[in-house]
Amino acid sequence: MTDILIPSGTVWLVGAGPGDPDLLTRKAEKLIKAASVILYDALVGRGVLELVPASVRLVPVGKRSGRHSKDQRTISKMVVDAAQAGERVVRLKGGDPSIFGRATEEIEACRAHGIPYRICPGITAASAVAASAGLSLTLRGLARKLTFITAHARAGEELDLDWKSLADAKATLAIYMGKAAAGRISQKLIAAGLRRDTPVLLVENASLPEERQFFTRLNLLAISGSSALGSGPALMVIGEAARQARDVTVPASADIAPHLPVY
Ligand SMILES: C[S@@+](CC[C@H](N)C(=O)[O-])C[C@H]1O[C@@H](n2cnc3c(N)ncnc32)[C@H](O)[C@@H]1O
Repeated sequence: MTDILIPSGTVWLVGAGPGDPDLLTRKAEKLIKAASVILYDALVGRGVLELVPASVRLVPVGKRSGRHSKDQRTISKMVVDAAQAGERVVRLKGGDPSIFGRATEEIEACRAHGIPYRICPGITAASAVAASAGLSLTLRGLARKLTFITAHARAGEELDLDWKSLADAKATLAIYMGKAAAGRISQKLIAAGLRRDTPVLLVENASLPEERQFFTRLNLLAISGSSALGSGPALMVIGEAARQARDVTVPASADIAPHLPVY
């Protein structure tokens, strides 16, 4: 069974989903049980790692923004080395491996060394956030476009995004890695024409017991982001779709007044 799923010397890039082990696909669970070694990212949920049999070697290669424990080149080399040593390799990544997951570098490394690889998709953070908040990311007539954005920029670098096309009142923006840039995102979108009162939903640690949700509006995003969020991974949903969020907390900061209606 294990050899059929992962022949020795091959690599599976596996999506671990947003954290909740119940959001792992059945295939991902089979693969992590069939692996001989698993190289996993920092955002892979604890509950997911608990499903890994004791016989499987677990190697953290954890990357969190600003706290990279290994650089990407080293990680790609570790994947290649493990496959060349005849291991059944699972490279376990948070969410979906093909969405802001640096999968390309590892795919290229496998290709360059003639190592067979396959990909098992996972539930991406935007889907988990929408599910937690009980909303749809697209809305008939009101949000006909859904854009996944990474707002991660190296310190001192400008965010290289096409703000004019992003400032579309009939679109939903799902912004990954945007916490540090919340102020700039808000400023740029408003300058490009998006209404100041555009609804925004912030969700930290979606799908995990420590999940927190906040509802705000675009012109208050900077202040809400810094006052409300902790150190967990967080995603922003900007646009009419966010208005459907219910029962979420408005950050209790004196600077955020008047309190916004929770729709
Ligand atoms: C390097 S990206 C990886 C995205 C991942 N491949 C995916 O498909 O979700 C990491 C970013 O995803 C978002 N993210 C991942 N897990 C999350 C979660 N449980 N709750 C909220 N956002 C999350 C955050 O924006 C975080 O900074």
